[in-house]
Amino acid sequence: MRPHRVLAGCRSAAAHLLTARPPPPPPQRRHALLLLLSPRASLSSSSSPGFLPSGNGHRLYAGVFLCRGIDGTHEGRRMGVGPAPPHAVSGAARRQSTSAEPSSVPGDKAFERIYMNQGMAVKPLVFERIADDVGVLEERVEEAVRSEEGSGKGSVVETAAAADVLKEREVSEVEKEAWRLLERAVVNYCGSPVGTVAADDPLTASNQLNYDQVFIRDFVPSALAFLMKGEGEIVRNFLLHTLQLQSWEKTVDCYSPGQGLMPASFKVRTVPLDGSNEAFEEVLDPDFGESAIGRVAPVDSGLWWIILLRAYGKITGDYALQERVDVQTGIKLVMNLCLSDGFDMFPTLLVTDGSCMIDRRMGIHGHPLEIQALFYSALRFSREMLTINDGSRNLIRAISNRLSALSFHIREYYWVDMKKINEIYRYKTEEYSHDAINKFNIYPDQIPSWLVDWVPDKAGYLIGNLQPAHMDFRFFSLGNLWAIISSLATPKQAESILNLFEEKWDDLIGKMPLKICFPALEYDEWRIITGSDPKNTPWSYHNGGSWPTLLWQFTLACIKMGRPELAQRAVAAAERRLSDDQWPEYYDTRTGRFIGKQSRLFQTWTIAGFLTSKMLLERPEMASILSCEEDLDLLEGCACSLNKGGRKRCSRIAARSQILV
Ligand code: GLC
Repeated sequence: MRPHRVLAGCRSAAAHLLTARPPPPPPQRRHALLLLLSPRASLSSSSSPGFLPSGNGHRLYAGVFLCRGIDGTHEGRRMGVGPAPPHAVSGAARRQSTSAEPSSVPGDKAFERIYMNQGMAVKPLVFERIADDVGVLEERVEEAVRSEEGSGKGSVVETAAAADVLKEREVSEVEKEAWRLLERAVVNYCGSPVGTVAADDPLTASNQLNYDQVFIRDFVPSALAFLMKGEGEIVRNFLLHTLQLQSWEKTVDCYSPGQGLMPASFKVRTVPLDGSNEAFEEVLDPDFGESAIGRVAPVDSGLWWIILLRAYGKITGDYALQERVDVQTGIKLVMNLCLSDGFDMFPTLLVTDGSCMIDRRMGIHGHPLEIQALFYSALRFSREMLTINDGSRNLIRAISNRLSALSFHIREYYWVDMKKINEIYRYKTEEYSHDAINKFNIYPDQIPSWLVDWVPDKAGYLIGNLQPAHMDFRFFSLGNLWAIISSLATPKQAESILNLFEEKWDDLIGKMPLKICFPALEYDEWRIITGSDPKNTPWSYHNGGSWPTLLWQFTLACIKMGRPELAQRAVAAAERRLSDDQWPEYYDTRTGRFIGKQSRLFQTWTIAGFLTSKMLLERPEMASILSCEEDLDLLEGCACSLNKGGRKRCSRIAARSQILV
């Protein structure tokens, strides 16, 4: 672990307070209480809060700042500066409110149907203590035996077998190195781990940009690796601290985040207290995109936060966290922001370019698949986690309606295979009618020449984007993989996407898994669409580069679909190179042969993605915990919407036949 940065320069009184405090009992470990106050500073809650310039353009919150106990109580209050926490505006409201703003929930009549099941299909696995890999797995086996006794489902046997395999298996040197590096990447705040830095590359130490920050999306594979190892504390802390950073103010001025937005990243800074150099304290300093290159809004952050919150509950069995009022409010804020009314009429989420992992101009504004797949997952998991009461009923209804519409829209309009491409090839255009076949007025000449021979007969995929008169036919890995994991894609579509990976292995996996998108934009397209971005040249970085972090999502999708051998093959390809190459962020060239031009080394999500993939392959039962199965109720919602003209009857059977491709 890294040294606690805050201790440098601390007064001895503060250090004494730290050591004098008895260690809290596991598993309810609390944050170490840091009192880094000069004698002049007051702990009075009457101290008035306000906003201070931070010197780097961020807003920092000054007032009573908290090191919160992880059970939600305020273990310690301290005066200080930090990013505006929610309670800066209305602390009480945040902690006590259970209501979502009904005004921001659209009443989508076309998909009117209420789903309020909690959807807890998989029994939680309860970790009572932090243990080593084998210990944790043994606990899982015992738990599974207890819960599955007599059920005859056979999963216990599989889990027990997995435990034996793990006991016998010698952890490779590469994995040991990866664990060491992952531990080294841990960032502490108030004496507790809260995340991992994006990269810890000594070669770029003088030009770190924001790679020394904890990125929300980058932390997800780290979190899963820690959770599967039985270390829940860092994930819990991360979830709670990012929740405090969530934008709470509703603002209308430019460059300020809207209510509910989660930051792209945050940094732990040590700042002098009261402007003096006698005492210091740590603050969490978030970036909502207002400092990011290109000022991109991190739409995916809140979605990832919800996905991780659900995974934390499923893996640790600590559902109390998601039931907390402040956490419930956090979920509602993200959902309200996503579901708020705009001018758009599609059920997909309308975003600007670079609003996700691809956080530069790459022609993915509008309705990019990656955001839609994460959105779908977050909708499903929110519906599962939200407590039903008068304050949440409308929101849950809106979520269900949106889920039905979204899944119909993506399955129907984003899907391409040879048959569909042939249909598009023969499309009539300029159809003005309700029943138009070519609803989005796609001109057949848009079909790129590479596509015609590229898609194998038994394969298909979801296209990158759909807008009026515009289909982006590029293949984007993350969106397609999450469509499989979340069951946004139909089972048959999911199968076909994996067929594509298998048959187009050299294009999509090549010498290093996985292509972020295929193919690259070249020549005029590169110039016009990326704005001649020198970082996104053809087959580099976001423009057809290969990103090893995507491996864990590929592994999860393969295991879910019963094809772990595909993932094993990809993991083996990565394992051969990653350590020798010093864990690069990304690779370049068409087949992923070179370490990327500007790639960071010791990139944490590369390391964590590899470890998570290894662990998932060892414990395939985890895949069912982290993914979602098909939800027939949702399909019924889709079918009903199709039937508004009274053409077909509403039923599950109709849903199956109409929506399952
Ligand atoms: C780059 C990537 C982004 C990632 C960040 C930190 O900006 O495009 O997806 O989160 O680096 O690793």
